[in-house]
Amino acid sequence: MLILALWQLFTMLVQLFAVFAVLFFMLLGVSLFLYYLLSLISMIQSMIGGAPFVPLEYSVAERMLELVEPKKGEVVYDLGCGDSRQLMLASMRYGTKGVGVEIAWWPFLKSMVMRRMFGLQDEVKVYWKNIHDVSVQPADIVFLYLFESVLGKIKGKLQKELRPGTRIVSARYKFPDWEPKLVEQGEKHPIYVYVV
Ligand SMILES: C[S@@+](CC[C@H](N)C(=O)[O-])C[C@H]1O[C@@H](n2cnc3c(N)ncnc32)[C@H](O)[C@@H]1O
Repeated sequence: MLILALWQLFTMLVQLFAVFAVLFFMLLGVSLFLYYLLSLISMIQSMIGGAPFVPLEYSVAERMLELVEPKKGEVVYDLGCGDSRQLMLASMRYGTKGVGVEIAWWPFLKSMVMRRMFGLQDEVKVYWKNIHDVSVQPADIVFLYLFESVLGKIKGKLQKELRPGTRIVSARYKFPDWEPKLVEQGEKHPIYVYVV
């Protein structure tokens, strides 16, 4: 009798375990599917915008900041800000106010999590928008890491909206037909500085 009861308990436990295992793998499968779907949609959004999400190395981000010498309280824009790492770095190091514009879901969500983690939600704002739909007029400094073709498309907008004296710093790619004030051939790739 006792053996029968123990056997029933054992089979019940095995069944319970099997149900949990199936649920666990279903949940894992759905999560992985959603993750890859979100990444794929995000990649398409970035490509439609004009440049993929390739985060800048911290050493290059730091050098870009040194070149434009941000002052406390200055407003820094990053057009196509990815996970907003450069704006967060600027805010932590120099006390600047950051405004990021990002078209793709995945880096936008990542930036939300990272800003919350570092407690920078007030210092750095990120908008899920297309660069072309945002006014850059308040910027003192503009960061860019976009293809030359995209830079060509936003050049007129920047020259029209930005105040004289605004610094623009671009990683790797330069504006067509606009002479930079400074070019640094960095270890990884060049950095171009422009002054409006
Ligand atoms: C090369 S990544 C640079 C990311 C970030 N600035 C950094 O330095 O780490 C370019 C980013 O620009 C975004 N992007 C491309 N075209 C855009 C557009 N038209 N409007 C807003 N964001 C755009 C992409 O989704 C991508 O995250």
